[in-house]
Amino acid sequence: MIKHFFAAITGNIVSLIGTLLIVISLLLIGTLLVMQSLGFEGGAYLGVLTFVVLPMAFLMGLVLVPAGLWWRKRRDARLSAEGKESGHLPVFDLNQERTRAVLITFFALGIPVLALAAGLTFKAVHYMDSDEFCGMACHKVMQPEYTAFQRSPHLRVGCAGCHIGPGAEWFVKAKISGAWQLVAVAFDLYPRPIPTPVHSLRPANGTCEQCHWPTKFVGERLKVRTHYKEDEPNTEVKTALMVKVGGQLGGKSSGIHWHVDPDNEVRYRADRTREIMYEVQLVDRTTGETKLFKGEEEAPADAEWRTMDCVDCHNRASHTYRSPEYEVDLALEEGRIDRGLPYIRREGVRILTEKVYESHDEARAGIAAAVKAFYSDNYPDLAGSPAVEQAGLALGDAYCWNNFPHMKVTWNLYPNHIGHEESPGCFRCHSNKIKTDSGDKIGRKCSTCHEIVAEEESDSKLLQELGVQQPPPEPAAAEAPAGT
Ligand code: HEC
Ligand code: HEC
Ligand code: HEC
Ligand code: HEC
Ligand code: HEC
Repeated sequence: MIKHFFAAITGNIVSLIGTLLIVISLLLIGTLLVMQSLGFEGGAYLGVLTFVVLPMAFLMGLVLVPAGLWWRKRRDARLSAEGKESGHLPVFDLNQERTRAVLITFFALGIPVLALAAGLTFKAVHYMDSDEFCGMACHKVMQPEYTAFQRSPHLRVGCAGCHIGPGAEWFVKAKISGAWQLVAVAFDLYPRPIPTPVHSLRPANGTCEQCHWPTKFVGERLKVRTHYKEDEPNTEVKTALMVKVGGQLGGKSSGIHWHVDPDNEVRYRADRTREIMYEVQLVDRTTGETKLFKGEEEAPADAEWRTMDCVDCHNRASHTYRSPEYEVDLALEEGRIDRGLPYIRREGVRILTEKVYESHDEARAGIAAAVKAFYSDNYPDLAGSPAVEQAGLALGDAYCWNNFPHMKVTWNLYPNHIGHEESPGCFRCHSNKIKTDSGDKIGRKCSTCHEIVAEEESDSKLLQELGVQQPPPEPAAAEAPAGT
């Protein structure tokens, strides 16, 4: 009986391939599972192989075997109708003991095999939600986002927390688009760089608001930014802002988080990049009153309305790319670059931006060489010093955290909408060019959003009084996804 079954499932080329796929993938999966249970850590690639690629090969085998049998039978039938000699496959006649035997064996083996496939699929789906998979499986593709994410306060939140969120509907949506993404990666169909904003991103009430409370009263927050001047001693200067984050207090909202109070609705129509605002509408949900502000450009007919949420300001909550100036300031502040190196602030930014490199290795080598070259030309006694070496390394890091040649991600490609320094940010709407028919504008007065306590101060008494010893600007990774 087994012999007949074997002959049937290997009796034509399609079924034979299917059988081989089933046998080989099962053997490999089994071996890998045993290896993993014995403590062998293979990382993301092994996970993808075990739970995604091999099960797919296995399922394909399951489809190919009967497909081959069916195809062979059709061909034989056609050949015999034409009076030609048909192949050697058995006639599919249930009166024959042999056919029944094949059928029974197929089911007897097929059912446990299907159960196994279901189990593996479950594991695979589960695995596909892990950050390891999101960030590493599509390694090259998601490397920019994964790198930026690892430097963000949301390190412990996980990709799925913001990109899927709870509930079956979005889970299924994510799996469907995820399946397409796998295909896109396999066949190299994905765009470079990955376009942003993400138009299909789930609204913030299903993601951010699972952990953050939109009406929480934050009040004013003192933000101190440390910058360095482009002079020889790299003079340190501090800007201190009292940022009016606000929130809800006594049933009324104020400040910056006023936009996300459930009683207010700010809607807008913009171009696909959400950089150019055509129309901004303010809806008071309690009274139903509306106010329409118009930009300079007429909205095209297909521009859709979007209701503003967290992501319109915190668009880089997790994928926080930095500007070259920010990176050099940060490295100086954290001591990764020695402040004693003359002109290192000016030269650092110049070296980071003067060239586009083809790979990270090339960038690190080129940047280190450029730093050395500057000091051997201008400060020969410093040229061989460890500080110069170290500065080369730190600048190389800064480049590689923000530039990903294979994804065409370069400095400032993904603008940050908090503030108005590196991109228009708040000023996309808070602009003199956006007004109502009667000429009302969305306020642009500096004090609407923050009080400037100190600007580019080098040794202000005020800063000392405020005890401005900022916590490190890189926020520590969150311990647990508790609400804030
Ligand atoms: C704190 C929430 C959050 C987490 C955690 C998060 N993302 Fe995102 N991600 C976002 C937001 C918000 C955007 C959209 C920005 C926009 O539309 O302007 C985004 C955009 C993206 C994009 C589009 C390209 C870009 O940079 O705009 C990719 C790709 C991406 N995320 C992948 C990931 C991966 C992979 C992980 C896990 C390693 C992850 N994300 C974790 C919030 C998050
Ligand atoms: C699964 C829970 C979770 C989700 C979802 C989440 N966050 Fe967070 N968020 C946190 C935690 C935890 C912290 C860290 C708090 C801390 O370090 O004190 C944090 C920190 C922040 C901070 C403060 C960073 C700082 O510098 O102090 C901002 C802003 C923020 N999240 C915005 C967002 C936005 C926008 C989204 C949606 C795109 C989002 N979060 C989604 C849990 C979450
Ligand atoms: C109009 C723009 C805007 C919107 C919309 C917005 N935020 Fe903010 N948020 C800010 C600014 C500005 C700060 C001040 C922090 C900074 O400057 O880095 C801030 C601060 C925060 C902080 C840190 C608060 C702290 O304790 O210091 C969290 C958390 C946060 N926002 C979450 C959210 C969430 C969640 C939403 C959506 C419900 C949201 N924000 C919507 C602009 C915005
Ligand atoms: C999509 C357009 C849009 C963007 C982007 C935007 N705002 Fe606004 N903002 C508005 C509108 C509309 C109002 C209400 C104007 C009015 O009352 O006439 C407003 C009002 C405010 C107010 C006053 C709130 C109150 O108490 O009445 C503050 C503060 C503010 N915005 C801060 C910010 C900051 C900070 C950013 C950037 C992080 C920002 N906004 C980005 C549209 C926007
Ligand atoms: C619509 C709100 C809004 C208005 C109006 C506004 N700002 Fe800002 N500004 C911000 C936010 C938000 C930040 C970012 C705070 C942070 O970095 O956490 C910021 C940051 C800054 C910084 C610090 C930049 C740095 O990193 O050192 C300066 C300086 C500044 N603003 C100056 C001004 C001046 C001057 C005006 C008046 C012409 C003004 N802003 C008007 C919202 C606003």
